[in-house]
Amino acid sequence: MLLNRVEFALMNNPVRAAIQRRFEAARLLRMGGPLQGGAALEIGCGRGVGAELILDLFGADGVDAFDLDPRMIVRARERLRSRASRARFWVGDATSIPVPDSIYDAVFDFGIIHHLPRWRPVLAEVKRVLKPGGRFYAEEVLGRFIQQPIARRLLEHPQSDRFDREVFCAALTESGLELLRSEELWRSFAWFVARKPAAA
Ligand SMILES: C[S@@+](CC[C@H](N)C(=O)[O-])C[C@H]1O[C@@H](n2cnc3c(N)ncnc32)[C@H](O)[C@@H]1O
Repeated sequence: MLLNRVEFALMNNPVRAAIQRRFEAARLLRMGGPLQGGAALEIGCGRGVGAELILDLFGADGVDAFDLDPRMIVRARERLRSRASRARFWVGDATSIPVPDSIYDAVFDFGIIHHLPRWRPVLAEVKRVLKPGGRFYAEEVLGRFIQQPIARRLLEHPQSDRFDREVFCAALTESGLELLRSEELWRSFAWFVARKPAAA
């Protein structure tokens, strides 16, 4: 679902970019390691800060990225305009990713899966598009945060079938991904690195 006005503003400012860079991406890098070049995908890319980090911090050769919100894609294209040959953006839905099977070395999720009412099918799509041995890096917002009164008042999220760290870990495994590491903060935010089995 699209962000409401409050969250759109929260996602499109320098503070958000700094948090994503210094804490979220840095933690995922520590947990899952860098890429050896290769092709990456970012689901729900927002204004393109994640795509920039996937190239510069994780070391992908190229990144494909999409978001449900066309306004985000305009911003992301502008942000990476000087590197358009390495960063491709489109408007799209994470439940149905319009690419062939097994083409990415890594898939990244910076806080989008909790926005989907039916989030489990996204994990099946992530597994489908990863190459065998490819990695899934995810930063997510847990049900405990989403269901707090202040968050409910200010933000707009689906409320049913939310997940905690254990439920998300189990869903990764059920979707056929192999969980490598997970960490959480305040039982409200969590980070996951998983891998598509080499033989899958
Ligand atoms: C909390 S924002 C995070 C944006 C960006 N990843 C970041 O970290 O700044 C969630 C993003 O997911 C996008 N989104 C929501 N539902 C989506 C879907 N079904 N498919 C793709 N993107 C979606 C929203 O438009 C929004 O840009």
